[in-house]
Amino acid sequence: MNATDANHFGNVHGGQVMKLVDEIAYVCAARYCAGVAVTAAVDRIDFHEPIHVGELLHITARVVYVGRTSMEIEITLHAEEVTTGSQRHTNTCHFTFVALENVQNGRPRAVPRLICRTRDDKARYIQAKMRRERGLEYRKERDAFLSQFATLTDTELDQLLSESQA
Ligand SMILES: CC(C)(COP(=O)(O)OP(=O)(O)OC[C@H]1O[C@@H](n2cnc3c(N)ncnc32)[C@H](O)[C@@H]1OP(=O)(O)O)[C@@H](O)C(=O)NCCC(=O)NCCS
Repeated sequence: MNATDANHFGNVHGGQVMKLVDEIAYVCAARYCAGVAVTAAVDRIDFHEPIHVGELLHITARVVYVGRTSMEIEITLHAEEVTTGSQRHTNTCHFTFVALENVQNGRPRAVPRLICRTRDDKARYIQAKMRRERGLEYRKERDAFLSQFATLTDTELDQLLSESQA
């Protein structure tokens, strides 16, 4: 990474890393579904260690799970210190992309089934499925909360807040 990618601490800016991994995840998803795909969600981006300006990045992107039209892409980043060749695992990221018929109509399109050959593939698939189910559950609870939010009195809202802060 270059000096122009730095934050005010002199390390690589997290936002640069996020943009880079989103672009790489897009390429991985688009190649897998052989067409257009859009980012539907970023499950998480973990920053295990800072990346220093001047380090080389080794980036691995793989499809770890597919639903009917969605794909989960896992990205791992390792930073290499060029003079010693030593590497550190700096980031792990999970993105959900959805394949589209085309950009104009934005309609989701079915993607090929994922074949899991190795134990590693199978473990990644199962973990991704757990993330997907957790995400669906979260979105359902959020929507239920938001739909009742407008009718809550201030007292009920304060009650919910104090339960959340307990
Ligand atoms: C992503 C998008 C296409 C989904 O459209 P939609 O009408 O909600 O489609 P559906 O409800 O049929 O869901 C399609 C798939 O997306 C998944 N999905 C939708 N929203 C999701 C979310 N927030 N998180 C994870 N998965 C999501 C669904 O689970 C479903 O997966 P499956 O077919 O594998 O079961 C639409 O919300 C969109 O275009 N969002 C904007 C995308 C964008 O602009 N990205 C940034 C620039 S690329």
